[in-house]
Amino acid sequence: MNCVKIALAGGPVADLEVDVVVLFEPELDRLSPPAATLDERTGGRVERARRFKELTGKLYETGWVHTEGGIAASRVLTVGIGKPDELTPERMRRAASVAARQLRRREVRRAALWLDDALGDDLVQALADGLVVGDFETGLYKSSERAKAELEEVLIGTPGAEPPAGWAEPLRRGRILGEAANMARSLALQPGNRLTPSGLAEEARRLAESHGLEVEVFGPEQLAALGAGALLGVAQGSLEPPCLIVLRYRSGRQGGPTPGQAQGRLLALIGKGVTFDSGGISIKPAQGMQEMKYDMCGAAATIGAMRAIAELKPSIDVLGVVPATENLLGNRAMKPGDVLTAMNGKTIEVVNTDAEGRLILADALVYAQRQGATHLIDAATLTGGCITALGHHASGLFGRPDEWVEKVRGASERAGDRVWPLPLFPEYREQLKSDVADIMNSGGRNASPCTAAMFLKEFVEDASSWAHLDIAGTAYTTADRSWQPAGPTAAGLRLFVELALAMAAEKSEARVD
Ligand code: BES
Ligand code: MN
Ligand code: ZN
Repeated sequence: MNCVKIALAGGPVADLEVDVVVLFEPELDRLSPPAATLDERTGGRVERARRFKELTGKLYETGWVHTEGGIAASRVLTVGIGKPDELTPERMRRAASVAARQLRRREVRRAALWLDDALGDDLVQALADGLVVGDFETGLYKSSERAKAELEEVLIGTPGAEPPAGWAEPLRRGRILGEAANMARSLALQPGNRLTPSGLAEEARRLAESHGLEVEVFGPEQLAALGAGALLGVAQGSLEPPCLIVLRYRSGRQGGPTPGQAQGRLLALIGKGVTFDSGGISIKPAQGMQEMKYDMCGAAATIGAMRAIAELKPSIDVLGVVPATENLLGNRAMKPGDVLTAMNGKTIEVVNTDAEGRLILADALVYAQRQGATHLIDAATLTGGCITALGHHASGLFGRPDEWVEKVRGASERAGDRVWPLPLFPEYREQLKSDVADIMNSGGRNASPCTAAMFLKEFVEDASSWAHLDIAGTAYTTADRSWQPAGPTAAGLRLFVELALAMAAEKSEARVD
């Protein structure tokens, strides 16, 4: 993975020896202050672009101005950021990603951003994040991409003398999130033959080693000893051994009881890690089946989030749990009608082997709670029905109690990682009634995201706070957009990290009181 260097510029941007200056321009009836300054230096070329509607400030619209010697850089790239009062961190992140992708396409090595010094910390953070995720190559196995020049350095400046020194910290946070997202995306991009459950475990081990996390990987024998019959059931049809990957971040600031605060909160992030989902004996149609290499995007978000958490060091302990397996067909594969026993002893009648995600998550949820997790959140490419319901524009959100779900919604908004709540009506449980076992693994087509979530809830203790993100529609795209190439998006990752930071902040506030 290449890493673009992002640094605060010393001195005026106009004098920086870079190839391109980037302007993020709002939609106004005049030029923004940085654009106006640049206009003076280039003999009115920027204003002329505005007059000819080559520079409108419309969201994500790009344009080029040739400076012809007015400043050190030969070209200016303009990227629209839309109406100023509608600017959010998510928009800023996408605009920065648009810029980085434009620069990459032209093999630009050095660029400088010319920003308004009034930009808030959250927008500066989003900007760094966007630059890093925009500088990401999805053509992993294309021989032609390797020869391309890479974006090496982006300097950040303002029309005035020096950019605010306070920007260094949000830039650092943004870079951490962007790099974690890119790590998740490159895991997700690897096809089933390149990234098996053991491969995923190897990546988790490498991360733990480089980032000071604890790691444990439970293989088939240990899973049998743990009673993880649901995960083992899904894995039966594959030659690749399944595993349960556990990453642990210790804040080192817990331990003794905190006055005025219930002690021992442990956050568990759980991600579905099906490295390829064929559907099993209830096989999927051939059309689009290759997309099922992305059925481990929840796992990628979890591992990526653990990386960011290890770097941001919030004062809360966090557990990352990934059940990993393939879902294939073969003469050992589980069959419709088979009954499995999950780690908590509940029996499950498998009526559809393609409803495998909830099976492996059931064991992971039980495991996390046995490890003392009090607050749980999982991300899973769980149901095609969630794409029908919400399209590609929000992850489905379920959970309980309401306060926890609200906390997750807040984190989602701040992180620009969109979710939308869906119901867990008790009536949905009836669709999962089995004649022979405690529960069936599929409730059929009607409200499939809801019945899937209802199934998971069966493995959550009353005392636990739990949320579930159905990321089937958000984890990857097949359409190329100016800010995001076709491929994985790292959906859920930023929400996970923000949630950990928010819980840590709550705790330290309680301590100050
Ligand atoms: N991994 C799929 C869900 C999925 C579908 C994710 C499309 C992304 C894009 C999951 O394992 C699955 O097959 N779900 C079934 C459940 C059904 C059998 C109850 C589905 O949604 O069709
Ligand atoms: Mn499936
Ligand atoms: Zn699946």
